[in-house]
Amino acid sequence: MIRQINDTFILETDKTTYAFRVLDTGYLEHLYYGRKIHIADEDGAVASALFEKHEYAPGINNVYDGTRADFSFNDMRLEFSANGKGDNREPFIEVVHADGSRTSDFIFESAKIVKGKKMLDTLPSSYDEKGECSGLIVTLFDRNYDLAVELSYHVFESCDVITRSAKLINRSKDSVRILRFMSVQIDTDESDMIFTTFNGAWIREMGRVDHELTVGTIANGSCTGTSGSTANPFVMFSKKCTSENNGTAYAFNLIYSGNHIETVQISEFGKLRFLSGINPKGFEYVLTAGETFEAPEAVFTVSEEGFNGMSYNMHRFVSDHILRGEWAKMERPVLLNSWEAAYFDITEFKLLRMARKAKSVGIELFVMDDGWFGSRNDDRSSLGDWHANKKKLPGGVAGLSKKIHNMGLGFGIWVEPEMISEDSDLYRGHPDWAMKIPGKPHSKGRNQMILDLANDEVCRYITDTLASLFADGGIDYVKWDMNRTMTDVYSPALPAARQGECAHRYIMGLYRILKNLTERFPDILFEGCASGGNRFDPGMLCFFSQIWGSDDTDAVERVRIQTGYSYGYPLRTVSAHVSSVHQTLRVTPLETRFDVAAFASLGYECNLCDLDQNETEAIKDQIRLYKQWRSVFQFGRFYRGSNIYEGGDVTWNVVSPDGIRSAAMIFQPLVRPNDQRGRIRIFGLDPDGVYHFYNRPFKIDIRVFGDLINMIAPVHVKNGSAVHDIISRLVKLDGEKEDITAHGDMLEKAGVILSPKFSSTGFNDKTRVFPDFASRLYFAEKK
Ligand code: DGJ
Repeated sequence: MIRQINDTFILETDKTTYAFRVLDTGYLEHLYYGRKIHIADEDGAVASALFEKHEYAPGINNVYDGTRADFSFNDMRLEFSANGKGDNREPFIEVVHADGSRTSDFIFESAKIVKGKKMLDTLPSSYDEKGECSGLIVTLFDRNYDLAVELSYHVFESCDVITRSAKLINRSKDSVRILRFMSVQIDTDESDMIFTTFNGAWIREMGRVDHELTVGTIANGSCTGTSGSTANPFVMFSKKCTSENNGTAYAFNLIYSGNHIETVQISEFGKLRFLSGINPKGFEYVLTAGETFEAPEAVFTVSEEGFNGMSYNMHRFVSDHILRGEWAKMERPVLLNSWEAAYFDITEFKLLRMARKAKSVGIELFVMDDGWFGSRNDDRSSLGDWHANKKKLPGGVAGLSKKIHNMGLGFGIWVEPEMISEDSDLYRGHPDWAMKIPGKPHSKGRNQMILDLANDEVCRYITDTLASLFADGGIDYVKWDMNRTMTDVYSPALPAARQGECAHRYIMGLYRILKNLTERFPDILFEGCASGGNRFDPGMLCFFSQIWGSDDTDAVERVRIQTGYSYGYPLRTVSAHVSSVHQTLRVTPLETRFDVAAFASLGYECNLCDLDQNETEAIKDQIRLYKQWRSVFQFGRFYRGSNIYEGGDVTWNVVSPDGIRSAAMIFQPLVRPNDQRGRIRIFGLDPDGVYHFYNRPFKIDIRVFGDLINMIAPVHVKNGSAVHDIISRLVKLDGEKEDITAHGDMLEKAGVILSPKFSSTGFNDKTRVFPDFASRLYFAEKK
C-alpha cells in the first residue's frame, strides 16, 4: 500500500515500511526503511521523530541558497541527489548541460499514486500479473535547464519487495550529456552495517565477501559489458549480529545485465549512502530535446528474519515477478549436455550413442553443445555461421533432433549468437558488424569478437537466423552462451559523439532480440550462460528461466558457488551438472556431486557411455530420486543451515510450499579427526506436524577404507590393486540408517543428532563413514 500524508509518502509491504517526505524547499528527505512501523500518529500527523534536525551548516559545508542555513546537502539524507549544489558524495545524477555546466537542481514538481505497474520501454522490468502492485511516480524538475526526473516506486506487498526506477526527460530545446543516472539511492544514518558483495572470477563465481563499513567508499561493479562474475549486482546489508535466521538483512539487486555499480559511501558525518545503477565508467549518453532515458529497475527488500528471511523474499519476487513465460512455473527436465564428454569432437554417431545411454538412465533432454556448426572444430572459427556442419551432422540439426525425439528425449542446442569469429562467413561478409574501432587493432578473447548489437541491422540478423534455426531444428531447449567480455568498445554504426552509449545500447539490443525470440518460441526452455556465471542477473532471468551457474562442476566449489547464488536467486534458476570434474581435478564421490547438483536444476555432463555398471546404476537411482523430489528441490523454500563461511559442515534444506516434505543435505568439506558430532536442523516444517525423518539408503564402497580392509580380509589385499577393485564391486557395506519420527518444531529447533562419524576405529553399520567431501541426503515427510 502507498499513502500520502501531507508531504510524506509511506510505502508499506506486509512487513516493511519505506518513507520519505518533501521538504519545504522541494527536496526529498529519506526518512526510513526497515521493518513495518507506525509512522503517522492518530491525527494522521507523521511522527517528526523521523525528521532530521538542522539549524546550521557545519564548518565548511555550503548552504543551498544562502537564506537557509539549515539546508546543507552534504549532511542530509536525500532520496535523490545531484551534482554541484554542495553534496560532495557520489550523486544519483550527473549531466553536462549545453552551456558546459554540470550542476543540477531538481526539486519536487508532482506525485501520483497509481494502481498496477507498467513495464519499462527500453529495458526488461518486473511484472505484476495479478494487478496487486501499487506505484508512486514522483516528478522532480530542474527549472534552470528544463530537465525532469521521474522516480518510480512499486510495492510488492506479499513478498516484501519494493522496486525503484528512474527516467530522465529532456524538456529543453538542447541536448544534454548524461554522465551518470542511477536506479536507486538510499541515504541513512545507520552506518554500523556490514555490506556484503558476491565476488569471484571464471569457475569461482559468487564468493561472499563481508565488508565492515568505515568512512570512505566501496564500489562493487563491472565494466566488462556484462554484469560479470567479478561482482554480481546482488548485494546485502546486515547488522553485525545478523545470522541466517535472526536479525536484520537488507538486499538489493538490479534488473540489468551490463556494466553496473553498487557504491556504499560513509560520509564524514557517519551517514551511509547506497547507490546502484548503470556503471558511469565509460558511459555517456546524449539525450536530445524531447527524449527520455530510462535507468534499470532496482529491487530491494528487508527482513528481520535473517538472511534466510531476506532470501525468501527475493526468491518469491524472482519467481513471481521476474521469471516469465511457460517455463517460469514448470519443472525443469533432467538433461545431459555433450560439452565435457566430447568438447568440439562431436558427430551424429557419437551424440546418438550418448543420447541412448542417457535415455536408459532416465535423462529427459539431450543437449548438443558447441561444435555442431560451420567448420567449428576448436574455438578459433565459425561463430556467426549458424548452419550445421554436414560432415558431423549429415541430416542437419533437424535430422539429429528427429532421431533424438524418436528415442523419447527432448532435444536442445547450444548457440553463442552475440559473437563473431574473424574466420567466419559472417565476418567475411560483414566485417563492420563486429564491435571494433575501424582501422585500429582489436583485442580478442577466446579468439572471437563481439557483434555490434548497438546496430539494429545486426540485431535483426541474429533474430532472423536464430528464429529459423529454432523453427526448423525441432528445438526444445536452447543454451544461449556468451564467452567474452568487451574491449575496444565501439560501434561502427554510431557517430563519434555517441560512442559512450555503445555498451548500454548493446544491452538494449540484446534485450530486444531475447524478447522477440522468447515470445516467439514460448515452448523452448532457454538457459543462459556466459562462460558459466558471468552474466547471472535478474535482467537475464526475464528471458532465461535458468542460468548455468558456473563452468566449475566440482562439488566442493559448487557448494560455495550455489550458496552464493542462493542468497538472491531461487534454486531452480541455477543449473548444476554432475560431471567428471575437469576444472579442479578434485576427486569427489559421485553421490556428493549429485547431492549438491540436486539443489538446483539438475543435469549431467560426462560421458555416460564410459561409466561402469555400478556408476550407471548409481546415476539411475539419483535421477529416479530427483524426479520424486524435483518439485521440492525446484519450487520449495530454501534454508541455509550451518554455513560454508563458518567452516565445518554445511547444511541446506528445502521445504515444499505446503510444508509437507523437506529434503536436506549435510556436506563435509574436510574431515576433522576424532570428531563424531553431527546434527542437522530442518527448517520450515509445520511445528505441530509429525514427520518421518530418514536418510537416503546407500552402500559404502570399501575402497574408501584403503588398506584398512586388511583388518578384516582373510587374505592380504593390496590397496588399489585389481583384487581390491573386484572386491569393491562385489562387496558393498550398508551405510548407517537414520529413521525417526518427530515433530516439526523439534526437527527445526533441536535438530536431529546424527549417527557418529567414523574416526579411525569402531566401524559398524551405525557409524557414519564420512571422509573428505562426503555428503548425505535426508528427507522429512509429514505423517
Ligand atoms: C562456455 C560454457 O560455459 C560451457 O559450458 C560450454 O558451453 C562452452 N562455452 C562451449 O564453448
